[in-house]
Amino acid sequence: MESKINEILAKAQSALPMAQTKNEVAAIGASITGPNGELTALMKTIPTLDKAERPAAGKLINMAKSKIEPMIAEAYERIENRQMAEALGGAPDITLPNVDAPRGTLHPLTLTIRKICSIFKRIGYTVAEATDAETEWFCFDALNTPEDHPARDAQDTLFLPRQTRFSNVPKHADELYLLRSHTSSVQIRAMLREGAPIRILAPGRAFRRDTVDATHSANFHQIECLYVDRDVKLTDLKATLDYLFKNLFGKSARTRLRPSFFPFTEPSFEVDFMSDDLGKLSGKWIEIMGCGMVDPKVIENVGLNPGEYSGFAFGLGVERVAMLEHSIDDIRHFYANDLRFLRQFSNR
Ligand code: PHE
Repeated sequence: MESKINEILAKAQSALPMAQTKNEVAAIGASITGPNGELTALMKTIPTLDKAERPAAGKLINMAKSKIEPMIAEAYERIENRQMAEALGGAPDITLPNVDAPRGTLHPLTLTIRKICSIFKRIGYTVAEATDAETEWFCFDALNTPEDHPARDAQDTLFLPRQTRFSNVPKHADELYLLRSHTSSVQIRAMLREGAPIRILAPGRAFRRDTVDATHSANFHQIECLYVDRDVKLTDLKATLDYLFKNLFGKSARTRLRPSFFPFTEPSFEVDFMSDDLGKLSGKWIEIMGCGMVDPKVIENVGLNPGEYSGFAFGLGVERVAMLEHSIDDIRHFYANDLRFLRQFSNR
């Protein structure tokens, strides 16, 4: 038995690498492991052996099989590769897409940003973007934020070294740069560029000197909304918020406004929302974001006439929305690059 098996193995070892076509490989394979193959024939002799010898014989045959099968697969692969190379004129075409390339999935934060943007595109908003590094003027002064505001303190905001220069804002090249502490700076850039009326959504990163824990990250995402036109009223803001939350958290979602303060809106509010579709949080008011009517001073700062134009703005934390959408309990999951987490949001 053993010598017969060695013979079969030797045959496979010498014949398979010589095979030139897939048919030849198939024929060699069939002659060994096929229904009429030599190894199959050996297998059939097992019942004729002494009872004591049968297990060892079966084991030997299976071992041979497990050696030969990969050799057959290898022979097929060698021939396929050669045929492919011939079809390509000898040289592989490196511009061809790799059919087997593993495809990634969109990050849950990207999915939430896209969802909110598409909700707003339906009511005529466009998406505006600006740089993460900003000057103090765009981030604070133009937004009516006084010198002594805590966000202007190095304790709260990440300032860049004085020598940092960005060519895109030559006018403010002498100012101190910082990593924007909110996306409200995009309000200013968009209004300076486009004037009014304007209806934009500005998704992007914001940075604060927060100590990282389950609900804080020094680098997070916001979506800024700005609508400026003639006669924009608080009721427009409320209706827009209701529309947003119904689209995000179901028809039962409703919002309420509580008085608050931001230097760049007057009046200012905190928005709470409630939905019956939120598992454990159903039926509870959840504080979600800040908003308000654009302060006339801000309208003036971008060269528009506050007597003519009014508007509203809000700033929504993307992580916060995504955590509520998917019942995620720790903000750090978003940045850990753990595929077991990220794959759960795959839309494919
Ligand atoms: N920029 C504010 C923040 O980051 C949010 C906000 C935006 C408030 C727009 C009012 C209007 O906290």
